[in-house]
Amino acid sequence: MIEFYLNGEAQRCASLAPDTSVLELLRAELQRTGTKEGCASGDCGACTVAIGEPDRDGRLHYHSINACITPAHQLQGRHLVTVEGLARGDALHPVQAAMVECHASQCGFCTPGIVMSLFTLHERQRQAPVALDDACLEATLGGNLCRCTGYRPIQKAARRMAAQPDVRPPWGDSPGLADDVAALGSLLDATGYAMPITLTALHALRRQYPTARLVAGATDLWLEATQRLQAFEHLIDVSRVTELQTIDATPDGWWIGASVTYTRLEPLLDEHYPAFARLLRRLGSAQIRNRGTLGGNIANASPIGDTPPILLALDAHLALEGPNGARQLPLDDFFLDYKRTALEPGEFIRAIFLPRPTGNRHLEVWKLSKRREDDISAVLGAFAWRQENGCLHDVHLAFGGMDATPRRAQATEAALEGQPPDITAFDAARQALARDFQPLDDVRGSAAYRQLAAANLLERLRLTIDHDAAQEVCLDAYAH
Ligand SMILES: Cc1cc2nc3c(=O)[nH]c(=O)nc-3n(C[C@H](O)[C@H](O)[C@H](O)COP(=O)(O)OP(=O)(O)OC[C@H]3O[C@@H](n4cnc5c(N)ncnc54)[C@H](O)[C@@H]3O)c2cc1C
Ligand code: FES
Ligand code: FES
Repeated sequence: MIEFYLNGEAQRCASLAPDTSVLELLRAELQRTGTKEGCASGDCGACTVAIGEPDRDGRLHYHSINACITPAHQLQGRHLVTVEGLARGDALHPVQAAMVECHASQCGFCTPGIVMSLFTLHERQRQAPVALDDACLEATLGGNLCRCTGYRPIQKAARRMAAQPDVRPPWGDSPGLADDVAALGSLLDATGYAMPITLTALHALRRQYPTARLVAGATDLWLEATQRLQAFEHLIDVSRVTELQTIDATPDGWWIGASVTYTRLEPLLDEHYPAFARLLRRLGSAQIRNRGTLGGNIANASPIGDTPPILLALDAHLALEGPNGARQLPLDDFFLDYKRTALEPGEFIRAIFLPRPTGNRHLEVWKLSKRREDDISAVLGAFAWRQENGCLHDVHLAFGGMDATPRRAQATEAALEGQPPDITAFDAARQALARDFQPLDDVRGSAAYRQLAAANLLERLRLTIDHDAAQEVCLDAYAH
């Protein structure tokens, strides 16, 4: 049984299969067909809905998600808002009114998802002023594809929302809604889907169901259901385990719980690792960043996952726990082969240690993908180094998309270690790069493209270090 609120109304759903998505629940069980299915893989945004999570002060905070790849069981103790829940009779919600006023809908299939993404922005605006600049609108709408209207009227609508009559959805009248939602709690009584909230309970469930799959944000795992039509017999949800949700600061760095989402990680990275934070804005879409976790990205062990190369360049390590106890492992030793990791049976990632930046250590991260928004990397380069007496030291160069696993380029690093960052050293580094990797050859890029692109990222690194040359070639013109 899962208990949640849908557009202000209490819902109790029993006997859902563990692999039921929010979209299936809405359209097939609850007959709410305003939410559309386009791709069923988190890419198009047609299925976007908003989830309200109660905070400690008794307020609901709404974030956008892709209903097609979100487990229905994750609605437990949440308020789900869909496009049907916005208007008050004939009076349109300000988002809808602005969309009409700006002619921002044509075929309309994408429109419910766009409205819901803008709804979450509108809710944020209600809490505090939000600058509706291009970056904000791109971040809000980057996960919503619209093929016929074009984004100009949609962006215009976003800027006109605040000028519309302040029509609140009917459920907005209920002052006790947040408390009612919070009262449902996280405890789930469901067959085949367990949602522990403590580490002890997670260990017990792992012992009880040794073959159950773990799920966090489901932004990778659920594609196995929607794209490969696999059924999950038993799932253990780690997204609400308190110990996996914390970020603990130490003098040397931060232990980031494996279930911390990208959205929650952003302020920390903004402050301490701006290059990492910039990459985060290009990781998936708002809907993906609201659900996807660092632990899921690492455990998924994709050669084109975006955070592993950065974490490798920064010497991150992992806290793992399992039936044989707890251990720590350098991330360097975690990826064994294509999608194969050092996790032992029953083991899971508890947290990721991100070292604090030191004053003179630099980090650059560049992601190459076919589209700027919401696209997976063809190649990602993460470069960390320190410069002393005109020479490069502690050079860590890690790449994604260049091999079966994300990994460091050891020969390339050796070619630069202790050298001045000049043309001679970087020529040698590019030659070493060709020895370091025999890149992947697939739909995202041929092996030759990847080799050349990675070598060009090294040239970009040289130009970035050489400030005078960088100004000459105007690096920002190429930057994403
Ligand atoms: C449209 C779309 C765009 C995307 N764009 C990007 C992108 O730009 N860059 C990128 O890197 N990725 C991208 N992804 C992939 C995905 O969003 C990320 O890999 C994300 O970090 C996965 O985290 P999750 O919590 O959703 O993992 P889940 O899907 O819940 O789990 C992924 C895997 O990790 C395992 N797992 C989860 N938590 C743990 C744990 N604590 N210990 C051990 N195993 C665990 C699960 O069993 C599963 O095998 C995209 C996905 C989609 C659908
Ligand atoms: S249907 Fe396309 S993102 Fe969900
Ligand atoms: S209005 Fe047609 S795809 Fe968006």
